Amino acid sequence: MNIYIASDHAGYELKFNLVSFILKNFSDHDVFDCGPYSDESVDYPEYAEKVCDNVLKDKNSLGILICGTGIGMSISANKIKGIRAALCNDIFTSKLSRQHNDSNVLVLGSRVIGFGVATEIVKNFINCDFEGGRHASRLELIKRIEQKN
Ligand code: RB5
Repeated sequence: MNIYIASDHAGYELKFNLVSFILKNFSDHDVFDCGPYSDESVDYPEYAEKVCDNVLKDKNSLGILICGTGIGMSISANKIKGIRAALCNDIFTSKLSRQHNDSNVLVLGSRVIGFGVATEIVKNFINCDFEGGRHASRLELIKRIEQKN
């Protein structure tokens, strides 16, 4: 599976460390770092868009976005049709975002959680699959909202 990751300046260090973590622990996955490549101040919507465009083009891939709180990135990503971005700063919601919501982008707040928790959240997000069934029809309802707007 391909994983696209980006941050803003606030999330830069956590992104940098998570890229190494994923490369080391998920040898069957490829990680694409969509930037930024320094901790200079940047605007998070631009990086949200970069990751989401890749996730939409690359079927079955996943995205990871990181900003200070995770809020700006998740608001930006969820403006894009077809993106189901989940702001998860704990393991439980990370698992459920895949199993119930078929979330295709994980969002983390680097000023909310530390590296250890972030690795567990990422591990669960990557390893859990969508359960379908009753959850699938709810996703259809979400698509309907997208189409209306
Ligand atoms: C940057 O200072 C901060 O506003 C950003 O990382 C994020 O938390 C926005 O939602």
